[in-house]
Amino acid sequence: MFSQINEFQSKKNRSKIICLTAYSKNIAQIIDKHTDLILIGDSLGSVLYNFKSTRSVTLDMMIEHSKSARQGISNSLMVVDMPYNTYNNPAQALKNCKKVMKLTKCDAVKLEGGLKIIKIVKLLVKNKIPVLGHLGILPQFTKGKFKSKGKSAKERKEIIRDSKLLQEAGAFSLVLECVEKKLSKEITNSVKIPTIGIGSSKNCDGQILVTDDILGLTESKIKFVKKFTNIKKIIASGVKKFKKEVKSNKYPTKKYSY
Ligand code: KIV
Repeated sequence: MFSQINEFQSKKNRSKIICLTAYSKNIAQIIDKHTDLILIGDSLGSVLYNFKSTRSVTLDMMIEHSKSARQGISNSLMVVDMPYNTYNNPAQALKNCKKVMKLTKCDAVKLEGGLKIIKIVKLLVKNKIPVLGHLGILPQFTKGKFKSKGKSAKERKEIIRDSKLLQEAGAFSLVLECVEKKLSKEITNSVKIPTIGIGSSKNCDGQILVTDDILGLTESKIKFVKKFTNIKKIIASGVKKFKKEVKSNKYPTKKYSY
């Protein structure tokens, strides 16, 4: 497990790191050959359950989706997002992260935040639980519309401080969400661990996006989301063919019947 993390880290300054989300086995299995890291993100709250925020996602939901995704991941590092209210203090965080690691057999967990969670990150790392940090926009702690981070001097100072603190605490990598491009560059150049951008420009060591967004399964209008294909069309075409054959009594033929 740790050698896989070392291998992931060694990609910094060598080749761009490819990360995506998965919430179940079938998608995980398809993307796993092409990714370095698969995140079971709490974005599943809005993507699959129509929740207004990730705050409604529970630990049980994360565990069940992760167990399914685990079945499809054999190449990439598997990271599970710790949902809101599951890491409010070091003891609670350790208990919940141990449960997640044990039940889902993931390789690491992701926690949102900087200075406020440093004690927690140190405790997890001490207990051999690898941690992926998450700075910039923190969806679990942001109300209303997401705005980019790093425009004011105060914000810049805080994010730089937090990235260094997380590295010192033992985080193996950092997600930077909606961080302004010059700041992303500064952080990426000043930490030894890889930075993974989402809406944070090319200046990161790797990129992560929500798989459902890049496949065109969602109607996301977020600036950084690029639809790389439109899988809805392919699904609709298959369903139409099925419907046509059932209606016209063409399916099931002898071949498909007992
Ligand atoms: O929940 C999520 O999917 C995330 C992103 C970084 C993609 O946290």
